[in-house]
Amino acid sequence: MANEELKRTIKDMVIAGKGILAADESVSTATKRLASINVESTEETRRQYRNLILTAPGIGKYICGVIMFEETLYQKTDDGVSFPQHLKNAGVVPGIKVDGGLADFNDKGEQYTKGLDGLGDRLEKYKKAGARFTKWRAVYSISDNAPSQELINKNAADLAKYAKICQEHGLAPIVEPEVLIDGAHSIQKCHEATEKVLKEVFRALKKENVAIGLCILKPSMVISGKQAENRAGVDEVAKRTVEVLKKTVPEELPSINFLSGGQGPEEATQHLNRMHTLGIELPWYVSFSYARALQEPALKAWQGRQENLKKGQKAFLKRAKLNSLATMGKYREEMEKEE
Ligand code: 13P
Repeated sequence: MANEELKRTIKDMVIAGKGILAADESVSTATKRLASINVESTEETRRQYRNLILTAPGIGKYICGVIMFEETLYQKTDDGVSFPQHLKNAGVVPGIKVDGGLADFNDKGEQYTKGLDGLGDRLEKYKKAGARFTKWRAVYSISDNAPSQELINKNAADLAKYAKICQEHGLAPIVEPEVLIDGAHSIQKCHEATEKVLKEVFRALKKENVAIGLCILKPSMVISGKQAENRAGVDEVAKRTVEVLKKTVPEELPSINFLSGGQGPEEATQHLNRMHTLGIELPWYVSFSYARALQEPALKAWQGRQENLKKGQKAFLKRAKLNSLATMGKYREEMEKEE
């Protein structure tokens, strides 16, 4: 029974104080991350890096699910255990990114997400390898003429088709519409774009008869463009983000897990924490599904050297713990200085 299976997965992934780790960088993105510490990207160095993060002792205390890239799904820890099996042993649900990346959509420079062809067959393969949930990312840039309504409609329809196919195969879908932080736009522009995007996403999910109670939403926050002057502060980001979510996201959705989208690690933690201290009731669980904001300090501490493995794991666990506290509104800036 797909529904029973989906319910169990959602139950295992919506746990107070825990969040999701996105470790599903494609080979080209992983290559960029490794280049930032002068490490050559090979199948083996990528495996070593995944090993560092995923075998961090006690990862299951703060992380309830990990999104992997296909390559990682079939790789093993230093101890020779497949990553999905290792995660299962650690009490963490293994998941997989299933979209096929971006392709040109129109002559405005907008891109849509590929990957619906043959998706069902791939899902069966991933399920056999241990995956219990999936992720599909759609992106929207902000400019004078973007995001266009055509792209908003196309991405929403494809996210809904993806979610439906995953649910039919007993895999819980993470629906990820990311309004990009790149640019000098105001927070007001991001607010308007995010509202339009989310409205259309939920309209499409309903139209496709997706069980909203068995999905997870992974949105971006409402935030000023990275290059904007006078970027909005923590308070405004938290308030506007909650406002847009309350307006567009049905209460039956179990969990909202934010992406970090180019925010610094501390900034991403502060924003999440503030949403939980506004005194506004949130009908869904509100947590994190960060990649960069959870991994950056670990990558820096590791530097590709085996002797730094423990240092890297410590840096990762610290961020995971601080974000866990943020999901309960218990994070304080002084904690950044603690070991
Ligand atoms: P960031 O947290 O680095 O934005 O990554 C999240 C993610 O999964 C992007 O698809």
